Amino acid sequence: MIEVSAPGKLYIAGEYAVVEPGNPAVIIAVNQFVTVTVEESQENGSIQSAQFGNYPVFFTRENDALVLDKRDNPFHYILAAIDMVEQYAKEQHQDLKFFHLKVTSGLDNGRGTKYGLGSSGAVTVATVEALCQFYNLPYTPMILFKLAALAHLSIQNNGSCGDVAASVYGGWIAFSTFQQDWVAAQQKQLSLTQLLTIVWPGLQIEALTPPCDLRLAIGWTGTPASTANLVDRVQKSEAKKAYQKFVQESNACVSALINAFQTQDLTKLQEQLQVNRTLLQELSNLTNVVIETPALSRLINIANDFGGAAKSSGAGGGDCGIAIFSQQQDIQPVLTAWQEVGIHALPLSVYEKGEQHES
Ligand code: PMV
Ligand code: MG
Repeated sequence: MIEVSAPGKLYIAGEYAVVEPGNPAVIIAVNQFVTVTVEESQENGSIQSAQFGNYPVFFTRENDALVLDKRDNPFHYILAAIDMVEQYAKEQHQDLKFFHLKVTSGLDNGRGTKYGLGSSGAVTVATVEALCQFYNLPYTPMILFKLAALAHLSIQNNGSCGDVAASVYGGWIAFSTFQQDWVAAQQKQLSLTQLLTIVWPGLQIEALTPPCDLRLAIGWTGTPASTANLVDRVQKSEAKKAYQKFVQESNACVSALINAFQTQDLTKLQEQLQVNRTLLQELSNLTNVVIETPALSRLINIANDFGGAAKSSGAGGGDCGIAIFSQQQDIQPVLTAWQEVGIHALPLSVYEKGEQHES
C-alpha cells in the first residue's frame, strides 16, 4: 500500500499581493498533515475521505475518464489531482488501473471545522504524490508543484498556489506565483509532460532559514473563513489604483522581510511584519473586506503588549493569526491572555521536508 502525507501551511506575510505574479509572500509548512493511501483494486475503484463524511464513493472508467457512481460529489480537488496524474501517466505510457484511495486529515478540529491550514492544497499535493508513486512516474518537487498547481487551479482559479508550494517544499519559503494566463495558454498547445518541464515565468520558490532566536506562536480564532470568497471580493473592488499601490508596497515590505531572513535580523523581520499588518489594514479599508476581524485584533494587540510582532495570516476574516517573538521572551503569559479572550493557541511547529511525523 502506498501512503503519502502532505503538510498544511500558514501565510506569514505578503497575502493578497502574492496573487499577482512577481510579488513575494513568506509561507511556512506546519506539522499537521493530510494523508492519502492508495491500494490497487479490480473492476472498480473508490475514494474515501475523512474531510467529507468518510463514506466511500465508487468509480469506474469510460474512455479512461473517471465515472463516479454518485453524481454530486464533494471530492473536486481529489478528482482533479487524479485526472492530472492519469493524464501524465498516459503520456508516460502507463496503463490506468483501479485503486482504493483513502484520505485522513489532521487539518481540521476533528468536528469538521477547518483551522485555515490549507487542507485543499495539502490534499491535492498528497493525492498527486501518492498517484505518481502508484503509476511509477518520475517526479521532482517542481513537477509535483506544477501537477498539484494545475489540478488546484482547475477547481479554484483565483489563488496564488502558495499553499501548494508550502505543502510540497516544507519549512519556510519565499514564494512568488507564475503568470497563470501564460501557463493556461501553453496548456492548450503543449503536452502535459512538456508543460511540466518548461520554466513557468514568474514562479519563484526559495527556502528561507529563520533567525535562530525566532519563536513563532499561532492563534486560532475559532471561526472558519473562505479564502476564495475573500480574494474574489478584494479583486472585484473598484479601487484599482489604490490596489496597485498596495501591491507595490507589499512587494517592498516582503522583499525587506525576506532580506531580514537572509541577514538573520529578527528585529527587522518583526518591523516588516508590523508594516505588512498596516498594509493589510489599509487594503481592508479601501475594499471594505474585513481581513483583521475583532478576534484577530485581540490576538495581535495581546502579542504586541508582550513585545511580539503579529498579524492576521492568509486571507484573514477568521482562521489564524501569527505572532513572532524572540526565544528569550516567555510566551506563556501571551498564550494565557489569548485563552482569556477566546483565542486558542495551536501547538504547531514548522515542518521540514523528510522529518518524521505522526499523520
Ligand atoms: O487564508 P489562506 O491561508 O488560505 O491564505 C490566502 C492567501 C491569499 O494571498 C489571500 C490568497 C492566495 O491564494 O495566495
Ligand atoms: Mg484563511
